[in-house]
Amino acid sequence: MSAPKKLFIKTYGCQMNVYDSERMAEALGGEGYVETKSPDDADMILLNTCHIREKAAEKVYSELGRFKGLKAEKPDLKIGVAGCVAQAEGQEIMRRQPLVDLVVGPQSYHRLPEMEAKAREGEKVLDTDFPEEDKFEKLKNRPKAKRGPTAFLTVQEGCDKFCAFCVVPYTRGAEVSRPADRILREAQDLVERGVREITLLGQNVNAYHGAGPNGDMTLAQLIWELDKVDGLERIRFTTSHPNDMQDDLIEAHGTCAKLMPYLHLPVQAGSDKILKRMNRAHTAESYLRLIERIRAARPDILISGDFIVGFPEETEADFQATLDLVEEVKYGTAYSFKYSTRPGTPAAERPQLDPKEADDRLQRLQALLTKQQREVQDSMVGRDVTVLFEKAGRFPGQMVGKSDYLHAVHVADCDRAIGDLARVRILSSGANSLAGALID
Ligand code: 5AD
Ligand code: SF4
Repeated sequence: MSAPKKLFIKTYGCQMNVYDSERMAEALGGEGYVETKSPDDADMILLNTCHIREKAAEKVYSELGRFKGLKAEKPDLKIGVAGCVAQAEGQEIMRRQPLVDLVVGPQSYHRLPEMEAKAREGEKVLDTDFPEEDKFEKLKNRPKAKRGPTAFLTVQEGCDKFCAFCVVPYTRGAEVSRPADRILREAQDLVERGVREITLLGQNVNAYHGAGPNGDMTLAQLIWELDKVDGLERIRFTTSHPNDMQDDLIEAHGTCAKLMPYLHLPVQAGSDKILKRMNRAHTAESYLRLIERIRAARPDILISGDFIVGFPEETEADFQATLDLVEEVKYGTAYSFKYSTRPGTPAAERPQLDPKEADDRLQRLQALLTKQQREVQDSMVGRDVTVLFEKAGRFPGQMVGKSDYLHAVHVADCDRAIGDLARVRILSSGANSLAGALID
């Protein structure tokens, strides 16, 4: 038998890319590849790229340039670009970087084995189609290997919202939901391999409307089906749009014990003028009322968000409205970005703000969000939470896991194993994590 070929995958960007990279590794696993942690001994290198913000494509080109020496030493080395830069740039990647053998868009990963075979024969292969078939169904070369206690599971892909700043509707395509039976089968399989917590992924996950036994299902209905899976202890989902936050999903946060009290609900901005220009189709007020309803269903829920500052036409007063909204919501975590123009999106054509002004606003917003994040984390001290242990800590006897609220928690003198859940009393709050002790 020949030695296995080695595959090095570098993943950029969002959790969906992490999930996709796992699926690509599994697909190529069927072709005799095993993963390696270093590009140096790889027979194939795949960059799974992100296009959401500026310079992503440039980063990919500079990374590719670094493989020049490797390829010279090892002419059989194949180099591929996957993900959203592959989708957006297509053929241009091969034109600019002749080292690249293979370009594959996010909807074509199931075709990787054939593409790899062609590349081995010296062909340059490109596939950025949006095929009809379910790529995940085709990606079935799944070895039954044991897994860690947490996993991502893509249930929905693409987006029909067309926010004026965002490339996702172009790179990931229109909204598509996977049928519920396939998701449930995959969840069952993950649980059999040791997974206790599943995060359902979708660019617009709460718009989920996959086929079920009695017609289309909502995300809440899917969550209730997953609730019945024995051995699955925790369910999370991300990312949601405020306008798709339906009543049954809000209610599930109060009634489904496996659904964790954590919700990532991006608002992007606090000024109605800017929200309108962003094509967000909600107002600051409607978002605040929605948060109120979610908190009425689940008072301790931790709210997370995304923000963009320096969007075209954002005035100081508009920015102040974002700060005011943040003050009102009180976020447990948040991601904030300076607006970056994405070619092909509507906002790219508009007059851009002074970058210095945008930098200044980003710093001010981040200072407020960091303060809130710290306050929310500190408020956990003295409380009892459930922790799912994910790995051993740095010190002997220490274990690290995540609380229901997704805070990292360190527990000393811990006799529990990876994958165990335990009640923990929080004793202190550090820079980025909590420390606690087991409650017997
Ligand atoms: N510029 C800055 N941030 C962006 N995001 C999406 N597109 C852009 C852009 N062009 C942010 C949004 C989104 C998150 C994933 O990335 O806040 O919610
Ligand atoms: Fe992009 Fe999200 Fe808006 Fe869709 S809803 S266009 S993914 S920011």
